[in-house]
Amino acid sequence: MANAVQAIGASKTYGEGRIAVQALKPTDLTIPLGQICFLVGPSGSGKTTLLSLIGCVLRPTAGRVVLFGDAVSERRERDLPDLRLALVGFVFQGHNLIASLSALDNVALPLRLTGTPSLEARQRAAHLLDAVGLGKELARKPAALSGGQKQRVAIARALVGTPPLLLADEPTASLDAAAGRHVVELMVELSRKMRVTPIIVTHDNRIFDLAERIVQLEDGRIVADSLTAAAGGAVGSAT
Ligand SMILES: Nc1ncnc2c1ncn2[C@@H]1O[C@H](COP(=O)(O)OP(=O)(O)OP(=O)(O)O)[C@@H](O)[C@H]1O
Ligand SMILES: [Mg+2]
Repeated sequence: MANAVQAIGASKTYGEGRIAVQALKPTDLTIPLGQICFLVGPSGSGKTTLLSLIGCVLRPTAGRVVLFGDAVSERRERDLPDLRLALVGFVFQGHNLIASLSALDNVALPLRLTGTPSLEARQRAAHLLDAVGLGKELARKPAALSGGQKQRVAIARALVGTPPLLLADEPTASLDAAAGRHVVELMVELSRKMRVTPIIVTHDNRIFDLAERIVQLEDGRIVADSLTAAAGGAVGSAT
């Protein structure tokens, strides 16, 4: 199977000298195309840092990050925004929707920014909102949506450009258990349908059964890495 993500000895140190913090120690991680991978671990263990390296938000201090065979860590800093647009859909802890725009226009926005004509962008946005169960709420602004609904709009926005990677950083943090589970179920289901590779950071062990693989971080390193029953029956080490 081809790989979506490879980190090869990738590390990240924030700051320099006496204030330097090595948030991620040299890390190897390979994620095959389409694998449903959760990143878990205590606060400060490096989950967001690792996700940021994979998402071309940060470049590693040392080591390499390869996405779909492309050594993105070797690209120039100024190329990172374009790489992100092409490769990554993000879902954050807060939904980061624009308050003055309808659900439809929020989802259409990434397409408009990359030059898709308005009508086509809105048609694709409507299709994605329908897929997350919000086909009747297209005209609503974020303030008129529940937390779970807002997070579903954020999922539609992340996927509307059909990026090959979907990265979510604690997408359930502001939701109750049922809404949180529903949001992650939707991400998993749409990822399978759209052939997207999702990587989801979560603290919520009640939804670990939705993962095919669970990578656990502690103190800036991977301390456990296992396939789950959802990975096709095989339970064991992933490396
Ligand atoms: N911009 C930064 N500058 C300096 N140190 C940072 C920065 N971002 C993170 N850190 C430090 O790096 C370490 C890892 O942080 P990271 O945000 O990756 O952890 P996390 O696992 O996502 O934690 P949480 O579950 O609380 O979100 C922590 O010690 C943190 O304080
Ligand atoms: Mg974090």
